[in-house]
Amino acid sequence: MTHPVPVARLFGAAFAARPEDAYDALRAAGPVAWAEIADGVHALVVTSRRAAITLLNDTATYSKDSRLWTALEQGHVPADSPVLALMAFRPSLLYADGDHHARLRHAMNDCLARINLHELQEITQSHARQLIADFAHHGHAELMSQYADTLPLLVFTDLLGCPPQLVGRMVTACQGMINAGPAAAQSAADLAHCLAEIIGMKSRQPGHDCTSWMLTHPAQLTHEEILHQLVVLVGAGTIPTAAWIASGLRLLLSDGDYAGNLTGGAVTVRRAMEQVLWVRSPMANFSVHYARHDTKLHDVPIPAGAPILISHAATGTDPSMPHLGYDNRSHLAWSAGPHRCPADSQAAVIAQTAIETLLDQLWNLDLTDSHAPNRHGPFHQCPSELGIHFRPHPANAFATASTGRHS
Ligand code: HEM
Repeated sequence: MTHPVPVARLFGAAFAARPEDAYDALRAAGPVAWAEIADGVHALVVTSRRAAITLLNDTATYSKDSRLWTALEQGHVPADSPVLALMAFRPSLLYADGDHHARLRHAMNDCLARINLHELQEITQSHARQLIADFAHHGHAELMSQYADTLPLLVFTDLLGCPPQLVGRMVTACQGMINAGPAAAQSAADLAHCLAEIIGMKSRQPGHDCTSWMLTHPAQLTHEEILHQLVVLVGAGTIPTAAWIASGLRLLLSDGDYAGNLTGGAVTVRRAMEQVLWVRSPMANFSVHYARHDTKLHDVPIPAGAPILISHAATGTDPSMPHLGYDNRSHLAWSAGPHRCPADSQAAVIAQTAIETLLDQLWNLDLTDSHAPNRHGPFHQCPSELGIHFRPHPANAFATASTGRHS
């Protein structure tokens, strides 16, 4: 097989430190260009907003089914490549097309719609206060590990109806997947075991939670289908939400336009969150598609079976687009077309509550480093660390919130 010549590497330390250099190089090579997304793994990456919209709405030409990935099929992708965790086929809505996708998506949409957003805000705030209470008297914290990564996970254990005895195992399994280290595959297997246990439990005794709603949905998903839907729900719901929280907090605490105005409350926080969606899209490069046959996208040849990623990060900062202001929501951070994120309102409630609760509970807050590089992978855009210091609370003066469950 002839290897395409990549014009940028979308992984590793250099990319994590200056992602904009890679996006500039890709843009200079056209609306769609080849990149290396992991050692020995090549993909086409769309950086033009117009080309991205064309692709995302052309379901006749482009499929989400990664069994069409020629290089993987022919054994050219290293079996232990970290990108396989998100790109290898699973029977979930993320890799489905047409009527099959519509059936799975219908069940997902209906379950998400049953989440009461006020309850979601309450459980997020309750977990947030609990996490903050653990470090409030120290005067310093590393917010990725002590807050942003963990908070969405705790919220999702509630949303799925996870029994207390499984919460620790679920959180550890998900953290192993987030860290994407050598134990990632074992962590993914642990998560699947936990979810299978929850499905078994909820099929015997349904409750007021997403697992039970999925089990009783008229689309009549099998237990195996539900398991894969829940893996996507947890993976898609926690990792980008953590990135949104972290990048939002970093912007609020480091950018002069916001830092002097934190008393502006919810309006200020929302504005920073919207800016993040334009300039630091939490899903950086994703929405993987495969052409069903050789074709062209905005005049660029696209071979059948090559993975094509949408650079949500680069499309948001496309210099050829007029700057419409950050309040304008026409960015592609949620993607577009049939696979557009179905949970933007739920994600916004979790992220906004997380940010507001932290700013409300800690005073004289400062970042220890506002320029920490991103994590190294190609898919998510998230600071690798977020150190803060603040005026410590007296050890016994912090009101520990009770863990609210919404069942
Ligand atoms: C409560 C939190 C969230 C949940 C439950 C959630 C859930 C999902 C699900 C189930 C999908 C698959 C949709 C499909 O294939 O039909 C999806 C896709 C997507 N989500 Fe979210 N998500 C959340 C947060 C976020 C955040 C914070 C972002 C970034 C701003 C994001 C960006 C995306 C993108 C870009 C896709 C398209 C992926 C693709 O086409 O491959 N999501 N999300």
